[in-house]
Formats: sequence, C-alpha cells, structure tokens
Amino acid sequence: MSWAKRFITSNVGLKVLMAVTGMLLVAFVIGHMLGNLQIFLGAEALDGYAELLRTSMELLWAVRLTLLAAVLIHIYAATVLTLRSWDARPVPYEQKTWLGESYAVRTMKWGGVILFLFIIYHLLHLTVGVQGISPEGFEHCTAAGGGELRCHAYANVVAGFQHWYVVLFYVVAQVMLGFHLAHGAWSMFRTLGLNNPRYDRIARGFALTVGTVVSVVNCIIPLSVLIGIVK
Ligand code: HEM
Repeated sequence: MSWAKRFITSNVGLKVLMAVTGMLLVAFVIGHMLGNLQIFLGAEALDGYAELLRTSMELLWAVRLTLLAAVLIHIYAATVLTLRSWDARPVPYEQKTWLGESYAVRTMKWGGVILFLFIIYHLLHLTVGVQGISPEGFEHCTAAGGGELRCHAYANVVAGFQHWYVVLFYVVAQVMLGFHLAHGAWSMFRTLGLNNPRYDRIARGFALTVGTVVSVVNCIIPLSVLIGIVK
C-alpha cells in the first residue's frame, strides 16, 4: 500500500480529509449567505447575482462538481470514522470537552444527516424546479436575447417561503447547520494542529461566531419572507 493510501485510510488521514473538505464547505456556506443577503437590496440585486454566477457555465459546473466531491468525501470520512469508533467501543462513554462533547458529537452525526436531507430538499426546492416541491410559478434562468440571461431567484425565494412548514424546516436545518459549523470548525482547527491553548480561545471564538452568524442570517431570510418584510 502506498503511503498516500495508508494515510487517507488512517484515522488521522480521514480527519484531515474531513477538515479540508469542511473548510471548502464552510467557505461556500459563507459565500452563499453573503450572496443571499442581497435579497434585502431587492429583486434586481439578487437576480443580478444569480446571473453573474452563470457568466461561465464551465466554471459554475467546476464549482458544483468540486462541492459535490467535497460533500461526498466529508460524509464518507465521517461514516468510516463513526463505524470505527463504534467497533472500538461498542458501549459509548461520556466525553467531556467543549459544548458538552457527547451532546455536540450526537448533534454532529444526526445534524449531518438532517443537513444532507436539507441540501437535497433545498436543491429540488430552489434550484432544480420540481413540481410539488418548488413553489408554484418557479422559473429557471431564461435567455433574454443577445447572450443575456434573465434569472428569477428573487421571485422564486419569495414564492418558496410562503408556507410556515417550509420555513420551519429551513429554520430547523439552519439551527443544525449552526451547531455543525461551530463544532466542526473547532474540530478542524484541532485536526490541523491549532490545539495549542494559546490559539484555542481564538479557534472557539471563530467557530462559535461563524456557526451563530450563518445560522441566524439563514433563518432571517425565510422568516423575513414569511412575515412580509421581503415581498
Ligand atoms: C435560508 C437560507 C438559504 C437561501 C435563501 C438559499 C437560497 C438559494 C437559492 C435562491 C438558490 C438558487 C440560486 C440560483 O439558481 O441562482 C440556492 C442554491 C443552492 N443552495 Fe441555497 N439557500 C440557503 C441556504 C443554503 C444552505 C445552508 C446550503 C448548504 C448547506 C445551500 C446550498 C445551496 C446549493 C448547493 C445551491 C446550488 C447552487 C448551484 O446552482 O450550483 N443553501 N440557494
């Protein structure tokens, strides 16, 4: 077995894979949140942003495939590590670290599953346009002549958050995302060797801030539509 294969199948290698793919996904989630915030600037801003993303379809697909690979590797590494830990210790023990570890670890596993289901639902709801899941009147980006595209992200989001049960699912998923990011980002720093007590406070502060900000902002968007601030 080559050293590379030995490394990526070892527990440390799998944790490094989780940390690196996690970093990519955190960067995407923050970028996506900043892009979505443009909904508060009006339809032109959000639709313009959606059109900008489609300036190069090759680049868009390269980013999509990279994200997909990152999600699959992240889930694969998490699953293998979880199965190995169950094998090694069939009776779980109480671990005590930040965020009350046993609670945080459980949240990571079940939160991860809920997030995965959320992403599939979210893609069907606001990207793919599936009858019965996407809002009525959902429109894909369409050609507007002269090589221009006209996107309808704003109208899709407004129509997509008219029902309390859809918004509730988004809010629950965003709370899970917040816990997942807070604990995940902190573990990532530890895996990458930044577990020196001097940096630990900075790492915790960063992880908690990212988790809280992303979760709160992502909840505010659907709630603002539901209560009519964005219409
Ligand atoms: C409540 C907050 C969110 C809102 C309002 C939102 C809104 C949107 C909208 C409007 C699109 C379609 C964009 C377009 O077609 O141009 C989209 C796509 C997407 N969203 Fe979200 N999103 C939210 C949260 C999330 C979260 C938390 C994740 C991941 C964890 C996520 C992952 C994605 C992905 C992967 C796409 C597909 C992008 C592509 O076209 O390749 N979104 N989102």
